[in-house]
Amino acid sequence: MQSTLLLIYPFLKIGHVIFMVFWMAGLFMLPRQCIYMLDHAPGSPGEAKWATRMGKLRKIILTPSLIIVWVLGLTMAIAMGFFSEGWFHAKLTFVLAMTGFHGWLVAQTRKMARGERPLSESTLRMIGELPGVLLVLIVALVYLKPF
Ligand code: HEM
Repeated sequence: MQSTLLLIYPFLKIGHVIFMVFWMAGLFMLPRQCIYMLDHAPGSPGEAKWATRMGKLRKIILTPSLIIVWVLGLTMAIAMGFFSEGWFHAKLTFVLAMTGFHGWLVAQTRKMARGERPLSESTLRMIGELPGVLLVLIVALVYLKPF
């Protein structure tokens, strides 16, 4: 099992990085789509159009990418025995924060699709920066493995 995982390790990593990019792209797009939805009144055709777009982004890009990144990442960690290393614990903390942000944002989009407006434009602009900040920290940890 271990030797098979090591044999396919480069392919696991390729898949991990590709779907990580899809996941991040989705997380960058979603707050922007929320901002565009704010221009439309609750119950209007414009709101329905953005709700459909958000739903597609979630089903086609965000949810599958999140699952694939987690599965491939954990498989690589098992193959290499990274679970005892400090950098990996720190990475997992930031990835859990990213996953929590994902879930929270999806919940906000569901509320918006029901006509609620839980977040202002300025809040959406601010929280839209969070995935980028976490991305910088995660990539630095993976490449530098400082501890
Ligand atoms: C979801 C949970 C995740 C787990 C369990 C995980 C785990 C891993 C593991 C074990 C590696 C291999 C490290 C090595 O071979 O030195 C790796 C590589 C990498 N991960 Fe993740 N990761 C996860 C999510 C993410 C996320 C969210 C990002 C970016 C935002 C990310 C970015 C990267 C990058 C850039 C690499 C380096 C690939 C390379 O060596 O060229 N990972 N990850």
